[in-house]
Amino acid sequence: MAVKLLGLSGSVAHPSRTTALLRAILEAVSARIGISGTLIELADDAPHIFSALTRRQLSGRAAQVVQAVEAADLLVVGTPVYRASYTGALKHVFDLVNHEAFAGKPVLLAATGGTPLHGLVTEHQLRPLFGFLNALTLPTTIYATEDDFADYRLVNPKIIDRIARAAGEAAAQLSLRDASVAPLRAAAG
Ligand SMILES: Cc1cc2nc3c(=O)[nH]c(=O)nc-3n(C[C@H](O)[C@H](O)[C@H](O)COP(=O)(O)O)c2cc1C
Repeated sequence: MAVKLLGLSGSVAHPSRTTALLRAILEAVSARIGISGTLIELADDAPHIFSALTRRQLSGRAAQVVQAVEAADLLVVGTPVYRASYTGALKHVFDLVNHEAFAGKPVLLAATGGTPLHGLVTEHQLRPLFGFLNALTLPTTIYATEDDFADYRLVNPKIIDRIARAAGEAAAQLSLRDASVAPLRAAAG
């Protein structure tokens, strides 16, 4: 079965720097593993997600989003910093998921913010959330500020390099789990 690579953007805005960052990360991972990914944007799906306040109330698109997040082999999660944390929309998705689906799942963490002072949001907010879920968060996280984008396109070469490093870590994890990814591990370097 094909490896499922999923990006989840916690931004509730269009256009979105966070979504642009996630697209760049998904492209880098896809190039490493030779499998394309899917992106879920909560800017579109948050109204569906909030229609369910408990897991039992999940139906329609909200159920599809939760199911896709649970089923991903590699999850790339990104959020804008809102009030020094992830968005409420992103948190609500993880209040609805079955926590057992995340044990050992590789998760690449990313965020965007208005100030570099909140760059540790990936370590202090996102990593503990996925720690609770027993997920395997990758060592390299990505944080970008508004100055790293031009017209919602990532332009800072240092962040592009960091994405390449994170994509290598993601490919290595996937190759440990899925034989179809293994031949690409050498290319990942
Ligand atoms: C409600 C709200 C709260 C915010 N809080 C913070 C914050 O605490 N720290 C920060 O660095 N940026 C904060 N920002 C700025 C956003 O994180 C930043 O502009 C981000 O890149 C927006 O991402 P987006 O384009 O994907 O929506 C906030 C923005 C909004 C709208």
